[in-house]
Amino acid sequence: MKRLFFFVLSVLTLGIPALAAADIDALMENCNGCHGDNGVSQSSDVPTIAGIPEFVHVDALFVYQDEARPCAESEYRHGDTSRPATTMCAVAADLSEDDIDELAAAYSALPYVKATQEFDAAKAAAGKALHDEHCDRCHSEAGTNPEDEASMLGGQQMGYLRDTFAAYGDGSREQPGKMKEKLDALSADDVDALVHFYGSIQ
Ligand code: HEC
Ligand code: HEC
Repeated sequence: MKRLFFFVLSVLTLGIPALAAADIDALMENCNGCHGDNGVSQSSDVPTIAGIPEFVHVDALFVYQDEARPCAESEYRHGDTSRPATTMCAVAADLSEDDIDELAAAYSALPYVKATQEFDAAKAAAGKALHDEHCDRCHSEAGTNPEDEASMLGGQQMGYLRDTFAAYGDGSREQPGKMKEKLDALSADDVDALVHFYGSIQ
């Protein structure tokens, strides 16, 4: 009888919060199947999402819901890797507004961990000069300051950055107008140098 009482009591007091927690945990487990444990990516073509500012994360997921940015098919890399490959647009399509808010809040509270990756020191130095001149105003501290609300660049996966510059370049991903002026003025070598600079931030 006593046991039953405790069971009922725990369902009454813990039932609802426990359900909500399980929900966000299950969602994040799915995300982390590609984005890595705690949202820290182990794959060059997948961005780290831990520590991305909440506003930027919400915005990114809405843009994917609108299919207004490229979303290539991707395999699961962690956990149950037999889950069928999917795209960010399909993942975002399954999320409610509340899910999006909760996910963005949860990931923004996790520590951003810079990737350990190989880079070319000479290119990184050239990239630093370009960054300081053209990008630092909006992406301060080598693009690692979450308060800029402009995503995270320093220490982000280089393959993902490369794909992102390509998407900006061919217009398949929209960019802030003032940033477009800056990026359009850069050569392919300049962009390559910037990728090495951001990769050198470890
Ligand atoms: C099947 C693999 C996969 C799953 C599952 C997945 N993602 Fe992604 N995600 C990617 C890849 C690959 C990219 C980058 C390329 C692209 O946009 O397609 C990306 C990009 C993103 C970006 C853009 C980051 C930026 O800086 O603009 C966000 C935000 C994101 N994912 C959040 C999530 C969340 C939240 C979930 C879970 C609800 C999730 N992803 C599930 C593979 C995945
Ligand atoms: C006027 C402000 C501004 C300037 C200048 C600017 N950016 Fe941005 N940048 C932003 C904002 C805001 C975002 C996030 C918006 C978005 O995701 O569309 C962003 C996003 C990015 C992203 C995508 C990050 C991600 O993971 O989604 C990259 C890469 C980037 N900027 C590179 C650069 C580089 C390189 C320069 C300099 C050549 C530059 N930016 C100059 C404001 C700026």
